[in-house]
Amino acid sequence: MNIVLLGAPGAGKGTQAARLIEEYHVPHISTGDIFRAALSEGTPLGLEAKKYMDAGELVPDQLVIDLMDERLSQADTAPGFILDGFPRTAAQAVALDEALGASDRVIDVALSIDVDPEVIVKRLSSRRTCASCGRITSADEGTSCKECGGALEQRADDNESTIRNRLSVYEEQTAPLINYYQGKGLLVEIDGDRPVETVWADVKAACER
Ligand code: AP5
Repeated sequence: MNIVLLGAPGAGKGTQAARLIEEYHVPHISTGDIFRAALSEGTPLGLEAKKYMDAGELVPDQLVIDLMDERLSQADTAPGFILDGFPRTAAQAVALDEALGASDRVIDVALSIDVDPEVIVKRLSSRRTCASCGRITSADEGTSCKECGGALEQRADDNESTIRNRLSVYEEQTAPLINYYQGKGLLVEIDGDRPVETVWADVKAACER
């Protein structure tokens, strides 16, 4: 199962990806997570990406495309994958199709999770991520992860002005991909402004169609 998760920042892509991993046992490939891991290791990739991420802008296409070409050539992606945060521009979507075509693979489904921008600003302002197990939660949980006791951290780009810029970058550069995948007959639109389990039921049904 080769899945693309589309949706604005904070729509719930990472939250639903965690359930998809348990269901399909295929790798979750999040370009944002790759950049954040590279930054915490202090690599040149991470330091370059930070310049864009801190401002809520997109990392340049060629850097992202080269990174993903390499990642998708790895053996663990052969049984399938969940792409979260990629592709994000028309150039990335075309490059993805070319990379998959070269190995006789295709995208099976593109899920677009839709949430009102003002709901997203509230969600992201209170999002916390466990530094130990990576679980995504909200500030309502306090400062320690209820699953593993790790420290709950706030992402550097989850402040209101950067969130609003990420939302406008999404509208300009990524939302057009909804039409791209609709044209290919691969798009399923999902209302993401419902409880996580209700959204998950629709995500699962879309992957099984
Ligand atoms: P990235 O890390 O991809 O971030 P994003 O797209 O902004 O998405 P988020 O991770 O913020 O949100 P999400 O949809 O995963 O929501 P989540 O499940 O966490 O990208 C970061 C940056 O990296 C970009 O700005 C860019 O600079 C760069 N980048 C990455 N990929 C790139 C690319 N391909 N090209 C160029 N640059 C790239 O949920 C959010 C919150 O809501 C959580 O608190 C969660 O608990 C809560 N929540 C989730 N679902 C629900 C629900 N149903 N009801 C209530 N609350 C919910």
